[in-house]
Amino acid sequence: MVQDPLPADGYDLVHARLVLQHLPERLDVLARLAGALRPGGWLVLEEFDTAWVPVLAAPDEEAATLFERVHNALSAQLEKAGLDPVWGRRVPGAMLGAGLADVTATTYAESWAGGGTGIGLHRVNAQQMADRLRAEGLTDAELERFQALLADPAFVVNSLPLVSTRGRRP
Ligand SMILES: C[S@@+](CC[C@H](N)C(=O)[O-])C[C@H]1O[C@@H](n2cnc3c(N)ncnc32)[C@H](O)[C@@H]1O
Repeated sequence: MVQDPLPADGYDLVHARLVLQHLPERLDVLARLAGALRPGGWLVLEEFDTAWVPVLAAPDEEAATLFERVHNALSAQLEKAGLDPVWGRRVPGAMLGAGLADVTATTYAESWAGGGTGIGLHRVNAQQMADRLRAEGLTDAELERFQALLADPAFVVNSLPLVSTRGRRP
């Protein structure tokens, strides 16, 4: 997406979800995607804003604190790999900066309860990045407690808000 040539014909619609967030070159990529539209075509980007993830219910105070520690450590590690954790809130401004018009955004969030499908995102992220979380100072016991928490229906957290932004090439 960063270097591959794009087809020359203008598109009516270009859509990407949770990809540009990972790319340090995201502003250049957005400009290239906007340039691939035909006049009047729409660019739709859907990206997380990971900075507003309140715990909505927890079996105890310690559980909420642990969730926040792990979430912050995950974000810090992903940021080191090039992720912008709040790219979702920056997309409208970036689209306007790229010359797109009629830019609007809608943000979707829901509750994720322990044991449910959505909260599995935190489960696999913490499993796949366990070594890096240990490097951030988390212990094996804390990581096990975190996994148990994500399976506990008494634990409920806000989903990662997904900002869906659209803009039209004039
Ligand atoms: C969080 S996943 C999102 C997957 C899918 N778009 C979705 O919404 O379910 C991030 C995706 O970005 C892709 N990706 C990361 N860097 C990329 C790059 N430089 N060029 C193209 N794709 C890339 C990964 O392969 C992965 O599929």
